[in-house]
Amino acid sequence: MVNYKPIYVTRPYLPPLEELLPSLENIWKTRVLTNIGPYHQLLEKKLAKQLKVPYICLFNNATTALLVALKALKITGDVITTPFSFIATSNVLLWNNINPIFVDIELGSLNIDAKLINEKITKRTSAIMPVHCYGNPCDVMAIEEIANRYNLKVIHDASHAFGVEAVGKGVMSFGDISVISFHATKIFNTFEGGAIAVNSLELKNKIDLLKNFGIENESSINGEGINGKLNEFSSVLGLTQLNHISELIDQRKSISKRYIKELSNIKGIRFQEIKDSIKYNYSYFPIIIENEYKLNRNELYDLFQKNKIFLRKYFYPLISNTPKYRHMQSSRLDQLPIANRIAEQVLCLPIYPELSLTDQNRVINILKEASR
Ligand SMILES: Cc1ncc(COP(=O)(O)O)c(C=O)c1O
Repeated sequence: MVNYKPIYVTRPYLPPLEELLPSLENIWKTRVLTNIGPYHQLLEKKLAKQLKVPYICLFNNATTALLVALKALKITGDVITTPFSFIATSNVLLWNNINPIFVDIELGSLNIDAKLINEKITKRTSAIMPVHCYGNPCDVMAIEEIANRYNLKVIHDASHAFGVEAVGKGVMSFGDISVISFHATKIFNTFEGGAIAVNSLELKNKIDLLKNFGIENESSINGEGINGKLNEFSSVLGLTQLNHISELIDQRKSISKRYIKELSNIKGIRFQEIKDSIKYNYSYFPIIIENEYKLNRNELYDLFQKNKIFLRKYFYPLISNTPKYRHMQSSRLDQLPIANRIAEQVLCLPIYPELSLTDQNRVINILKEASR
């Protein structure tokens, strides 16, 4: 057997080191390492433009950003959310003593099913927290309509949605707050990092205070606050990476198109449905392994492992089936049939700009051969 090199589901992008050096030398000279320094301020401005949103508040990761978002909007009681996400989406609710109320997802988009939200709203509901799953926008308009009708806040977990546009606007401009992740595995990374997008300067100022311990100035401390600041090193990495982002997304797009072309005739494999009208970022490539395929998802996952291709079962286990959540009323299997089914069928294929044609072929050939 050929001794293949391993392929992972992603490989973080890093810009050429020499592009960072002048700014890093400047940091070494000035010794301004953090505390909302000049690179932090510049990255906020550039990201607002890039993501087509009025204001950006940078954070050290998306989890802190989500925690602060909930505080800033004074969310309490129950929040309606999706179980088909990374665990952080629900953990930030529990951490703030808020109850997640899970709503099932759509079979095609894999996003929260807006049609099922109404029936879950009670007097305790204060907000809806959808996720743009794998960067695919949820039904932002329908959710906005429900939120307006019941006077609820909307916090979009846009962790995967860098650069995505829906209804002709930056997807992070919808809702009261959107939160994005710049973790190493994301298409735009600052090693660790994240951001909140908001539509008003007033809310930005409030969030900026909350993420800096509540310190207003040298003699005034508001008290409520946490440390959510992004450091200057990470901000420089973000600024440098921004110069490459459109090229990186194009490279992902061509891999995604190739997978679709090569795999769409295989019985039992289907893709997430993404509307033609949106501008997508190709951040993930999930496939759904249905019963007509020769192997089930776990068998296929094992076969890839044997071939040194390390895929991910995002998002398995379903949040609602994990120990902190499974006792909840809204976690019952009969309430979440589609999310439970997809969590057993989904597999994310490798997608990243440097994924070579040869490596793409290794992935495609395994899927073709195993289907025969
Ligand atoms: C949907 C979702 N929400 C939240 C997070 C948390 O992001 P971070 O790792 O930046 O805290 C992640 C990420 O990794 C995610 O995928």
